[in-house]
Amino acid sequence: MKNTKNLENKPFDYRRMALYQIWIRSFCDGNGDGIGDLYGVYEKLDYIKSLGVDGIWFSPIYPSPNADYGYDISDYKNIHPDYGDLEQFRKVLDKAHSLGLIVILDLVINHTSDEHPWFLESRKSRSGQYSNYYIWRDPRFGKKGKRPPNNWFSQFEGLAWEYGEERQQYYLHVFAKKQPDLNMDDPKVREEVKGIMRFWLDMGVDGFREDVITYISKHPKLPDGLPFLPVINGLKFYQHGPNLMTYLKEFRKVALEYGAVQIGEAPMTPVRAALNYISGEDRVLDMMIQTDIMMADCVMIEYLHHPFLLIKLKQAFSRWQTKLAGKAWNALYLENHDHPRVISRYGSERYWRQSGTMLAACYLFQQGTPFVYQGQEIGMTNIALPSIDMYEDVASVNAYHTFHKHEPEEKRMRRIHLASRDSARTPMQWNSGENAGFSEHKPWFYVNPNYERVNVEEEEKDPDSILHFYRKCLALRKREKTLLEGTYREYFPLRPKQFLYERRCGNERILVICSFSKSEQRCRLPKSFAGKEAELLLCNYPGKAGADRTVLTLRPYEACVLKYK
Ligand code: GLC
Ligand code: CA
Repeated sequence: MKNTKNLENKPFDYRRMALYQIWIRSFCDGNGDGIGDLYGVYEKLDYIKSLGVDGIWFSPIYPSPNADYGYDISDYKNIHPDYGDLEQFRKVLDKAHSLGLIVILDLVINHTSDEHPWFLESRKSRSGQYSNYYIWRDPRFGKKGKRPPNNWFSQFEGLAWEYGEERQQYYLHVFAKKQPDLNMDDPKVREEVKGIMRFWLDMGVDGFREDVITYISKHPKLPDGLPFLPVINGLKFYQHGPNLMTYLKEFRKVALEYGAVQIGEAPMTPVRAALNYISGEDRVLDMMIQTDIMMADCVMIEYLHHPFLLIKLKQAFSRWQTKLAGKAWNALYLENHDHPRVISRYGSERYWRQSGTMLAACYLFQQGTPFVYQGQEIGMTNIALPSIDMYEDVASVNAYHTFHKHEPEEKRMRRIHLASRDSARTPMQWNSGENAGFSEHKPWFYVNPNYERVNVEEEEKDPDSILHFYRKCLALRKREKTLLEGTYREYFPLRPKQFLYERRCGNERILVICSFSKSEQRCRLPKSFAGKEAELLLCNYPGKAGADRTVLTLRPYEACVLKYK
């Protein structure tokens, strides 16, 4: 894909695209060591293309001690030896481009690994070349001796500060201990970031997904947060910090030189704040990955679980659809490597095929650029491992050891089963053979036992499979201008088990109807559609939904897409 010099000449229009996310360790093992890699990705590029997507976002593929599986980087300009090398990456990039797929990398610059050479130097002394690359502060001293500089919790692992003996100071880590936060206020650090961007863009990469990008500018005084707020008591002082916009503008300049697309990850960001970054010609990011839609069965984080509430999900969808309308562009997703599988959360494992397909329809036809996460397209579901010792994810393991310690073991494990990110990180299920076709070797992590039924090969054979439904949805989105460009309007926001939304372009209207119920539902159509003739564009059941044009009878988890002229 040719790089050009300015945004309007971007060699591709990301708004017309759909992207596929790869979490490489569990995607496909090409060299038989039980770990997914770029050799495996290379083999599967045709499969990815066959889905009807237009590009790939790779979660980190760089060298990393894997404290947070790639999100702790120890070398920004290289490939993790588990996954291949730069030459193999170039091969993947070239083949992807030749298939018409763009390639986006994860840019993780809020923190590095504590094994990154910058940090190894930085921790040695207060006056070296790298001493200011991280956020070091003197201890506070109280009756009990030294204490961290403030009371913040990290999001993954206890307090947000770790002591470095050599400097006799604490360093800040908003995530795990092995993920020290970079000091973005140091201009040298920002130059490093630009160097990293150029390194990959010069190679031909098409853009970045920018990890927790809204955290990179900290409040200069690092004040105490509310003491009782768990996990995120410091958030207010590191989210949307005072220099965030300035820094994003600097990085934007580099991206614009190459016509690269920038997608920011913005946890817990309200729409109003998001608009500052993603709207207008002088926007600093093209899209934002929001987290509101991940909170329809929990409060803030999945560990604070409650039963799924469709109304919460609909509110989140419609808030972003309507507030961005005409101003900015949405990033649409229901799954990624940070959240349990969506069928197990918002759908039903019992109505696996029906709810898996309905969930596809419920988000793929909204306005925005859809993301599909590996395995989502075949309806992979959560895994329930019997013991916490079998879990890998640092956040899951620490949540288990920190919260609800007095609850019975069974209940604590139940929380892990509901919330763990590891459910999204089990090996991709390619066929019903050994190790689900992921590897000839014992995989690095447990395969979901449902692989004999839920796998690519089986679903290729079945025209009604979840896999084929994803293909149909993505093709339909491409074909119907109204689905790409049309306005969005939700009907009956208070119906607890049904989600109805319209896309409209001129006189043409497309109505998407989704049932989130295990039982049959009567669904009265909105007045302006009642009695009108419609073309059925798509349905996840054979035959037409209901006979009547005014009241439909929806089967469990039925989804249909109707076109009106
Ligand atoms: C982002 C990533 C997540 C990671 C965290 C820290 O939220 O998506 O996987 O653990 O940032 O880098
Ligand atoms: Ca391998």
